[in-house]
Amino acid sequence: MSVLVLGSINMDLVAVAPRFPRPGETLRGHRFFTAPGGKGANQAVAAARLKVPTRMIGRVGNDVFGPALRQGLAEAGVDVEGVAVDPEASSGTALIVVEEGGQNAIVVIAGANGRVGSAELARLEGWLREARVVLMQLEVPLEVVMEAAARAARAGVGVILNPAPAMPLPDEIYRWCAWLTPNEVEAESLVGFPLQEAEAIEEAARVLVGKGCPHVVITLGERGCVYADREGVQWVPAYQVPVVDTVAAGDAFNGALAAALWEGRSVEEALRWANAAGALSVTRYGAQPSMPHREELLAFLNRNPERRR
Ligand code: RIB
Repeated sequence: MSVLVLGSINMDLVAVAPRFPRPGETLRGHRFFTAPGGKGANQAVAAARLKVPTRMIGRVGNDVFGPALRQGLAEAGVDVEGVAVDPEASSGTALIVVEEGGQNAIVVIAGANGRVGSAELARLEGWLREARVVLMQLEVPLEVVMEAAARAARAGVGVILNPAPAMPLPDEIYRWCAWLTPNEVEAESLVGFPLQEAEAIEEAARVLVGKGCPHVVITLGERGCVYADREGVQWVPAYQVPVVDTVAAGDAFNGALAAALWEGRSVEEALRWANAAGALSVTRYGAQPSMPHREELLAFLNRNPERRR
């Protein structure tokens, strides 16, 4: 049994700069690096580093990045049999600026991720019987995510949908997902009202549960997250850590959430794992390089006993 991840695989081209450039401005940066990324691949690596059997379904391009991306996943322990090389596309890429203080801005170019389609759905269908959790995001075509969610739900496999990047979702999808994990911006676009106040965030979580998804988590960065189910709403505070790079913190959160649920952990414990993985990931640079290993996560949880608000 595995965590089955259907999603994007990107090469991240990262500039670290004192701040974000203004339109028309040329800004001197401190540092440049490339690192494997993509929301799907990052989440797969996050789950695999926690020693949970993880399979990735997706596409890389027929270019210099393709083999490196596939190999990076394999080295992290992800089963890459379902990662195809698309001979007619380039690999997905993301241009990222990380400013001092760790905030980031990203432009993502889909490349091969935009061509994920029926071949990947057929692969998913074949592997659903051996899956305990299906984990998806929105960097591959929405119709594919919809179909995959419907098939997983029919097969009785729990779907975690991280609806990133933000886009409108058809109503049916809420019923096919066991978990929905938007960040603040994505949740705002799903509910259609601003989420500045704590009450509005709680209301948004309740609205999303009302749409048919039984478990909703709105991630809030340094403020932690808000969890809602049919019983009510609760805040889970974030761990306080030194932040250098927030890229893929949400991916660490989702990968760890999937791993913990795969292990049959309680909702409370799964949220602690997810929060801890997100916290550890922001203490270092790069998307996949920042995903914590199991021993590190467990040691961090031991050092930081449960806190409630
Ligand atoms: O969530 C972070 C990821 O978003 C980056 O790795 C980048 O590739 C984009 O997909």
